[in-house]
Amino acid sequence: MRFLSIDNIIPGTRLAKPLYGVQGIVLLRENAELTDVILNRLKEIGYTGLYIEDEISEGIQIPDIIDEKLRLEAAYRLESIVNGNGNIAEMMPVISEIVDNIISKDNIVLNMNQLRGHHEYTYLHCVNVGILSVSIGIKLGLTRERLLNLGTAGILHDIGKKYIPLEILDKPWKLDYEEFETIKKHPTFGYEMLTDLHEIAKEAKLGVLQHHERYDGSGYPKGLKAHEISLFGRILAVADTYDAMTSDRAYRNAFLPSEAVEYLMGSGNSLYDSEIIDKFSKCITVYPIGTCVELSNGIKAIVLENYSDCILRPLVRDLQTREQIDLKNNNEYYNICIAKIIM
Ligand SMILES: [Fe+2]
Repeated sequence: MRFLSIDNIIPGTRLAKPLYGVQGIVLLRENAELTDVILNRLKEIGYTGLYIEDEISEGIQIPDIIDEKLRLEAAYRLESIVNGNGNIAEMMPVISEIVDNIISKDNIVLNMNQLRGHHEYTYLHCVNVGILSVSIGIKLGLTRERLLNLGTAGILHDIGKKYIPLEILDKPWKLDYEEFETIKKHPTFGYEMLTDLHEIAKEAKLGVLQHHERYDGSGYPKGLKAHEISLFGRILAVADTYDAMTSDRAYRNAFLPSEAVEYLMGSGNSLYDSEIIDKFSKCITVYPIGTCVELSNGIKAIVLENYSDCILRPLVRDLQTREQIDLKNNNEYYNICIAKIIM
């Protein structure tokens, strides 16, 4: 199987994984035929890509990192809290299940295609930031208790947007000065919403308050610098930026994972803490399994497996000869690199 942008899927192709709607209901079963009508309907309701089975990706399995239904449940509960129909305490068991899910995966390498979950559902982004943050926390060696706090902060980081007018949040072009000043209040609003909740740790609340602070002092709300920003604030900044960059926005298409990683690496110790970026780069894939790439020698190939200690050089399969090429371990290929993503 592989993940393909919905615009590139040929009618008649089979779906490789069940497709869940926002409330966890199965919309389409595994192996369903994707007809023209179905593809158009999925596009209309916001799907941007799907897992499909085709000849190129034959034999490739992509395991779930986080149970898709659990991720959707967290997002749905978060939406209920923001709309005033749910409470944060009820959310905690779901958060701890997600965190334990991540902890149980040894040496996790996050496949962002999977986190995208095909659908640009706002509240899924918040859940993604939680998942990315916990993955960074694991690389930093944090205890389970602190990982739980970190996951909570990640998932709730933008909860203060509840008090920002929708016409500002959804504005498809650049905000003016006053609108931006309003947006800048959301970390403080979020912190205030959590202040009296004893089940939420202080470090999680601080993370929410500081997720837009930047290492060089250029962030908000307080313009804190370097280690004046709490560890959780510094982690959330990286996870949030990466997730935002790799998502479609009304005014631009998503950046590729490789472009977002390059941007973050280039901003180490100016906007972000370089130690956090270093750990982060070890827990995400730049070329997710099933990505079709062109090598610098012109060979076209599909990614079969990633190495967490060498994210730029995965194991690939030549599309023509079906021969496997291990870019990390095969010495014959030491001077060959991935030139671009194709298809
Ligand atoms: Fe935010």
